[in-house]
Amino acid sequence: MPLTYRVQPGGRLRGRLRVPGDKSISHRAVMLGAIAEGASEITGFLEGEDCLCTMRAFERMGVRIERLGASRLRVQGVGLRGLRAPPAPLDLGNSGTSMRLLAGLLAGQDFPSMLTGDESLSRRPMRRIVEPLRQMGASIQTSAQGTAPLSIAPVAGLKAIRYHSPVASAQVKSGLLLAGLYAQGRTEVYEPGVSRDHTERMLRAFGVEVEARPGYAALSGGQILRAARIAVPADLSSAAFFMVGAAIVPDCEIVLTEVGVNPTRTGIVEILRRMGAEVEWRNERLFGGEPVAEIFVRGPSRLRGIDIGPELVALAIDEMPAVFVAAACAQGETCISGAAELRVKESDRIAAMCEGLRALGVAAQPRPDGALIVGGGLRGGTVDSRGDHRVAMSFALAALRADQTVTILDCANVSTSFPGFVELAQNAGLPIQAI
Ligand code: S3P
Repeated sequence: MPLTYRVQPGGRLRGRLRVPGDKSISHRAVMLGAIAEGASEITGFLEGEDCLCTMRAFERMGVRIERLGASRLRVQGVGLRGLRAPPAPLDLGNSGTSMRLLAGLLAGQDFPSMLTGDESLSRRPMRRIVEPLRQMGASIQTSAQGTAPLSIAPVAGLKAIRYHSPVASAQVKSGLLLAGLYAQGRTEVYEPGVSRDHTERMLRAFGVEVEARPGYAALSGGQILRAARIAVPADLSSAAFFMVGAAIVPDCEIVLTEVGVNPTRTGIVEILRRMGAEVEWRNERLFGGEPVAEIFVRGPSRLRGIDIGPELVALAIDEMPAVFVAAACAQGETCISGAAELRVKESDRIAAMCEGLRALGVAAQPRPDGALIVGGGLRGGTVDSRGDHRVAMSFALAALRADQTVTILDCANVSTSFPGFVELAQNAGLPIQAI
């Protein structure tokens, strides 16, 4: 169903908000719970379409998952070798995390499986995970372009490898670690930069020994996972839209509660601070192995443009669409570089954000690995989100600074990561309507 957002000018954000659970952590909680011994309980689970795709995939492989209430699940683990052949292809919708992590987890099973996705997921690069899995002995077919569907055939066994990944990608690293659980020997993954370390942290919560440091992760095969209780923090990537929304309107203040502040994800805090916003976190504590905090944001009288290079981009990769909006509202130029990965997300986010900003009167010049954005005012207009949830939500918050109505097309996929976005945004002070 096509969905359009219409946002009126003049909104202001205020108050305390709790955005839904972290997407990356919710996927992993279901996956690790499913292959653990015993029943795992998950609270704060993100009931977005992407994580529901992961959940349904495991149900189709014989895992019992009970809903204990809103965002609470009990996953009856079947152990490392207890999954059953799915009766049909597993449809993973829009979810790259489901596909790349499941490719690894299913590569070492003794049954065949087929992974499919929607149009966007079927365009995304899968060789980055399939090639190292083949080096481990997996048998996986892709399309001629190296994309889904992925057809996985059973093999006699996997062997561990030492892999130097050409891209820093938590999905690749995690897929290989999951395959590594089924491999003989020690699987080691080196990366050229930092990627999120939720898999490493959660494997430890399930009793697995993992060696990890920035740019490196390793584990030995055959380790048994023991059921765990996982409390999922609120998703910093969802909180980021409201952080930017508060930062671009002078004298706004908001507090976001129980937000995950894993240091591999907090680039957005650093970026907003460098642009002049006041961002603090308070009351930091651990939810399982993951740090959470209250994030407080106050906008300055005016943000300033900055240079954002590859190290900061890596720590804010999913927040970059919202960063484009902050840049469009800042005084001066913002130059983003080292962000070529944005071109292979749910949409080409460099193209989608520059095109949308230009439709709202902003000088935004795409570059192969980033963009040059000249900040100033935004006018009203119509923007195509290209079916990308994060592009849609970024423009919804950008409308706070526009002088006329902003219309955003093709917003249905917001439900992949942020169910209830419109209601929460309305309560926070954004005059948004879904039509
Ligand atoms: C994710 C890793 C990142 C991120 C994605 C979620 C994960 O992708 O952009 O939204 O949960 O592992 P890459 O691994 O491609 O960097």
